[in-house]
Amino acid sequence: MALFKFIGSKSKIGIDLGTASIKIVELEKGGGRFNLLNYGIFELKSTDAGGQSMLKLPDDEIVWGIKEVIKQSKIQSKETTVSIPSFSTFSTVIEMPYLSKEELARAIPFEARKYIPIPLSEVNLDWSIVDILNEQPSGSMAGRPTVVEVFIAAVPKDETIRYQNIIKGAGLDLKALELENSAISRALLGNDLAPTAIINIGGRSTSIIIVDKGYERVGHNYEVGGFEITKSIARSLNVSIEKAEELKRKLGLRPIDENIVNEAMSSLVDMMAFETKKTITNYEEAKNIQVSKVLLIGGMANMPNFAGYFQKKLEREVMLGNTFARIVYPEGLNAAIREISNTFCVAAGLAMRET
Ligand SMILES: Nc1ncnc2c1ncn2[C@@H]1O[C@H](COP(=O)(O)OP(=O)(O)OP(=O)(O)O)[C@@H](O)[C@H]1O
Ligand SMILES: [Mg+2]
Repeated sequence: MALFKFIGSKSKIGIDLGTASIKIVELEKGGGRFNLLNYGIFELKSTDAGGQSMLKLPDDEIVWGIKEVIKQSKIQSKETTVSIPSFSTFSTVIEMPYLSKEELARAIPFEARKYIPIPLSEVNLDWSIVDILNEQPSGSMAGRPTVVEVFIAAVPKDETIRYQNIIKGAGLDLKALELENSAISRALLGNDLAPTAIINIGGRSTSIIIVDKGYERVGHNYEVGGFEITKSIARSLNVSIEKAEELKRKLGLRPIDENIVNEAMSSLVDMMAFETKKTITNYEEAKNIQVSKVLLIGGMANMPNFAGYFQKKLEREVMLGNTFARIVYPEGLNAAIREISNTFCVAAGLAMRET
């Protein structure tokens, strides 16, 4: 859909190649705010998606899917940022002795080797300073920073090349590749530095991340998502995958007597909540702090009563992440924005990236 377009403005697009669908958002920055220009999605049918994922499709089919979304959504911009799914990247925050920036740049690859499970020659390594800590409260070194926290991220080079080819094939300019979780935290948190847990439940996987001082501190990935839930419903009720998908979306976890799918999926959702609880508690205990918010995103967050159920299991307040908190959109979209918010979080965060 073509929403609104400002003449002479420069817009950017974000592309999220998820396993269930391709999502694209086009944003334009004007007067210090982002405006939503267009968005679109290309969904794999759940029958296909149950066994196969988007990223396993041949590159030319992904290129075709991207072009379809661009055409149907009337997206104009070529300036593209694409996300890399968290299961194919490595990132962590490490502590280093405080050095000059030049010395850090030399020392980080050596340090990074300890954390990255594949040879450094096979990855593109990026890093940024999260915080400079002062751990010398007294004595002659008082007030002098001694430890620096550094966020390091590595993307396998063959992945980088694959994404470059796909984007070029779609006739777009790839400005950056970005970690999926960095896009999520930009979209949901902006400059909010408070420790926040974000649960992204997609088709193939669930990721639980803790963002603190603007950077991902903990990131866990579980190979359980919406497909697994659909399959479980199909098995339990002995219905087709299509029917199970329909029931999942219609009944979800609504606390009503005639809810026949409730039981078929609650053990999988309980497991997600259990893992989330453990991740949050471990972080709080290790750092001796309180995680201030728990946010839910991903297509599964659209399921009826999912957030309510999850909150009860987690025994903490859970909110749906608001992707559009920092984006201006046409009033006519008010009703649809809740659902798009969960699905388009990564794509919007990518389009918000400053060059
Ligand atoms: N209204 C809804 N109710 C229940 N489930 C839904 C609803 N909308 C989408 N889903 C489910 O959300 C999942 C897709 O979510 P999402 O679009 O976040 O996945 P993805 O980003 O493509 O996958 P991944 O992040 O795992 O690669 C599917 O399993 C789909 O069935
Ligand atoms: Mg996703």
